[in-house]
Amino acid sequence: MSPVGLCFLFFFSVLVCHWEPVCCYANGKVTKACGSMKPHHGGASGQTTLSPYQLQTNTSTFSPGDQIRVILSGTSYFEGFLLQARDAAQPESASAIGSFTLTNPDRMQLLTCNNHQGSAVSQTSDARQTEVVVIWTAPQDSPNEVQFFVTVVAHYKVFWLKVPGPIIYQHGITPHPHQTTSTHPTIQPTTPSILPGPFTSEGCGQSKSCLLDPPGCDPEKDPHCFYMSMSTEGTDKTSVMFELSGPAEGYVSFALSWDTWMGNDDVYLCIKDEDRVSVSAAFVSGRTYPEDHSQSGLSSVSWRLADGSIQCRFSRPVKLTNQGRFDLDQGYFLFLASGHTQYGEIRKHSRQPLISRDRKLITGPPQVLRGSRSPTIMKMHGALMLLAWMLTGSVGTFIASFYKPDWPNQTLFGQKVWFQVHRGLMMLTVILTVVAFCLPFIYRKGWSTDAGVHPHLGCCVLVLSLIQPIAAMHRPPPDSNRRFIFNWTHSSIGIFTEILAVATMLLGVGQTSLPLPSPWATSVLIGYVVWVASLKVALGWHSRYRKCTESLISEHFMVEKKRNVKNVS
Ligand SMILES: *[C@@H]1O[C@H](CO)[C@@H](O)[C@H](O)[C@H]1NC(C)=O
Repeated sequence: MSPVGLCFLFFFSVLVCHWEPVCCYANGKVTKACGSMKPHHGGASGQTTLSPYQLQTNTSTFSPGDQIRVILSGTSYFEGFLLQARDAAQPESASAIGSFTLTNPDRMQLLTCNNHQGSAVSQTSDARQTEVVVIWTAPQDSPNEVQFFVTVVAHYKVFWLKVPGPIIYQHGITPHPHQTTSTHPTIQPTTPSILPGPFTSEGCGQSKSCLLDPPGCDPEKDPHCFYMSMSTEGTDKTSVMFELSGPAEGYVSFALSWDTWMGNDDVYLCIKDEDRVSVSAAFVSGRTYPEDHSQSGLSSVSWRLADGSIQCRFSRPVKLTNQGRFDLDQGYFLFLASGHTQYGEIRKHSRQPLISRDRKLITGPPQVLRGSRSPTIMKMHGALMLLAWMLTGSVGTFIASFYKPDWPNQTLFGQKVWFQVHRGLMMLTVILTVVAFCLPFIYRKGWSTDAGVHPHLGCCVLVLSLIQPIAAMHRPPPDSNRRFIFNWTHSSIGIFTEILAVATMLLGVGQTSLPLPSPWATSVLIGYVVWVASLKVALGWHSRYRKCTESLISEHFMVEKKRNVKNVS
């Protein structure tokens, strides 16, 4: 990066660092948010998915003056929170009730909401925590039903707004059902347990179906082994147990898909968040971020984060009708993807996902499945382009550049040999380029935004390769005095196109959709380019030398001729 760029980056990071605490109340002094409980985090509006955090109380009934323990806990970390008690009969009223006592004044502080000291609790810093315990004292004028609410900030814009907690009732009050509780069912996520040991690929094909990458690897010994297994549970096969393992760089996931394209898929994720793992299910509707993270429908969740690998196991019923999950008694393509995470949120997969070669009936017999990270259509694109620009195009330009003087007296279908060969090969190059050009667009169903400069250069190459034959069709006759203009532009555009094509190929080798062996593919390509370039230089010298000697010979011949003429006269 240039010094100017570095300077700018530094300035920018300083700006961000100094700015963030002011804008996000990392110090927890959020009395402004007393009523709405909404943090003012860049206009973010809160997560709509099921909260990974929950509130618990140690009692469901109370008398005025009682002390009640309130616990905020989560399956993942949080950086901030705002906790209040409110009148459950008037959930829309914005006034906080009762007062809190802190158990750990270093990590939390009391706030004064609606002029009532200690009626809310918040964090003191954005240090990450997973549990907060406070004591709430019921006031003398307490309403009959009190409900706890909490807003939890996982990180900056990622927060859950006003998560409803338990309702507690004054002694002697018969609880009546609440609308708020029926519209916001607080599904208690099953507490995940730690796996006793690593998974093993033993039993793959016998007791469970497995998808492994690289083929035959063992997740017990190799942390870089991507492993997914599934086995039916119970005699009546009503549920399926899944296991997932991969390098602990962020997350590992698998998806059930009707086709081999991303989109409309049922996704299961194991996400690393510092030293714990959260397991969730989601839905991917397009080439987008998975929606609706939740643990709903998953049971017997357990995980392990050790020896450089992230592993998780869970079960789910074969049919889960109202949850938007796919039925497991069907055949699906399986996707295995991994990538990085930030604050427990997943980033786009860093490599092309591994896609099973065939559809697999999830409840079907145990099998060892095969998969590939490179789609056939992208392999075709690469192969055709290489064929066009490393073979036909290359030989075609060689012929035109260096073989014009050869076979002077022979013709092929009524034209000079070099011309027929040149034209044939170049037409083939153009056809191959056009066909190969379309394939990635078919695969991506549009323009790929993360392929960098490669597609842009590819478009230039295509346009130039189409201009060349069209221009050649309208070339002036050989004896025209404008012919040299055509010759010059035709060969210049040709050379320029070839250079662009080489650059495009070099960028193409690094594309994630075609996982070629990393340094080797580029080295082979560079080796080839050097070879072609040196051959051209050598042949260029050779033809110049030949022209030179030819003109010397003809000059000599002319001199001889003149002398003879003189002698005769
Ligand atoms: C709940 O916890 C508070 C504070 O620890 C305690 O005073 C109270 O007796 C507990 N209530 C019940 C029902 O256990």
